[in-house]
Amino acid sequence: MSSKLLIVDDERLIRWSVEQTLAKGGYEVSTASTGEAALAAVREDPPDLVLLDLRLPDIDGLQVLRQIKELSPHIQVLVMTAYADVGTAVEAMKLTAYDYLPKPIDFENLAVTIRNALEASQLKRKVQLLSEKHLYPYHFDRIVGTSRAIQEVIAVARKVAQSEAATVLIQGESGTGKDLLAKAIHYESARAEEPFMEIACTAMPETLLESELFGHERGAFTDAKTQKRGLFEVAQGGTIFLDEIGDMSGGLQAKLLRVLEERRFRRVGGTKDVSVDVRVIGATNRDLRQAVDGGTFRKDLYYRLQVVTITLPPLRDRREDIPLLAGYFLEHFSREFKKRLPRLSLEAERLLVQYDWPGNVRELRNVIERAMILEDAGELLLAHLPPEIASRVSVVAQEKSGFHLPSTGVVLEEVERELVRQALELTGGNQSRAARLLGLTRDELRYRARKFGLWHRTEEERQGEESSPPHGGNSPDTPAEIQRNAVV
Ligand SMILES: Nc1ncnc2c1ncn2[C@@H]1O[C@H](COP(=O)(O)OP(=O)(O)O)[C@@H](O)[C@H]1O
Ligand SMILES: [Mg+2]
Repeated sequence: MSSKLLIVDDERLIRWSVEQTLAKGGYEVSTASTGEAALAAVREDPPDLVLLDLRLPDIDGLQVLRQIKELSPHIQVLVMTAYADVGTAVEAMKLTAYDYLPKPIDFENLAVTIRNALEASQLKRKVQLLSEKHLYPYHFDRIVGTSRAIQEVIAVARKVAQSEAATVLIQGESGTGKDLLAKAIHYESARAEEPFMEIACTAMPETLLESELFGHERGAFTDAKTQKRGLFEVAQGGTIFLDEIGDMSGGLQAKLLRVLEERRFRRVGGTKDVSVDVRVIGATNRDLRQAVDGGTFRKDLYYRLQVVTITLPPLRDRREDIPLLAGYFLEHFSREFKKRLPRLSLEAERLLVQYDWPGNVRELRNVIERAMILEDAGELLLAHLPPEIASRVSVVAQEKSGFHLPSTGVVLEEVERELVRQALELTGGNQSRAARLLGLTRDELRYRARKFGLWHRTEEERQGEESSPPHGGNSPDTPAEIQRNAVV
């Protein structure tokens, strides 16, 4: 892809001759004769490099330089100046101009100077991307969770990241971590040093989204005063993340399919194809299959996208991750609010685990953030949870007050056995969750389950059994065999 240059000079002859020289070098060149026009052009479609005359008729050149850097610090600026103005040129260098070209311009060396400046800016950009990556580490180890469901998702995503897969589809309810996963896939792939561009397909009208994605040529429509590169061009070599892809209009779906199939597209109003190498990650919280059946999503695009599909499970289907995530967000906000890290009270944790989290991890994060603001005694209590969660406490309390010691007495061990049995039943045999319901560690629960002959088969064991011949069905370990003792 050729670099874009903007030449700013009030002398027509200089603009013309510089443009001629550089266009021959394969650059895309545009020109401006005033400071205002230059800033408008930079705002509209940022070039890679600006050749800036310091003496302009309207705004002072240094002022223009300062504003260009404010608009987009990545733009490289070379200032042009007559010998008499060297002092100003030095001033310009202090304002992070890359270099200055004395006038009259040495056309023989112009192309080399431009190339060096562009290389320097690309290098700077790469270093910056790397340090951003360091600052915001979107890696798989930032995805918290030990549940089998999330670990399977991460395992698949790792493979996808390292593969050549050109398209990936991430499905999952809102707040399950689709954004986070898409970024981890990008930053752990060979594309990590190239851009990650993100756009929500719902947020804007079709025509605007189209020009955002594919760019437009100058004059393509009334407002298109200059040519503009779209996200597919900007993301060259990297990844483009199309959020809510299920909301894309039919016309754009067709255009997207063409890019995915041919790796080429046309800017709006353009006549020639632009080639791209971009990985497309689509995300949706809708059932795309249903959208296909309902006629709102193209079947061919769906098949193209779903080659690699990753489905993020809702949080209520991986409750064992809740205490971990809560702890992770507690740490996060204690750092952010510069507050001592509070303990999570057992009661609060239990309610968090039992709640159904319609907003998934995002909702949990918000609940912990709110609680961290309210909390002030080193412990996160029920009182710090929002009403929709805390109100469940009455249910729990009622159940608790239901424990009455009968006047005839009980055998404590039998009560214990019954409670362990109920906990395993309630959680479908999930030992970690059952343990939490009883305020035990997983090992303590396993010990009791074994002691009482309540051994619940794990999912692996169950799956293993399905593929091997049944063994009589009389195992004393199966829950069906456990006698119900109505002790409480
Ligand atoms: N497994 C996870 N570990 C840590 N943070 C997570 C996890 N899943 C989601 N989050 C966080 O929850 C919030 C919502 O996640 P996001 O990726 O935006 O969800 P989605 O795009 O599916 O709506 C973000 O702040 C994200 O960092
Ligand atoms: Mg999202």
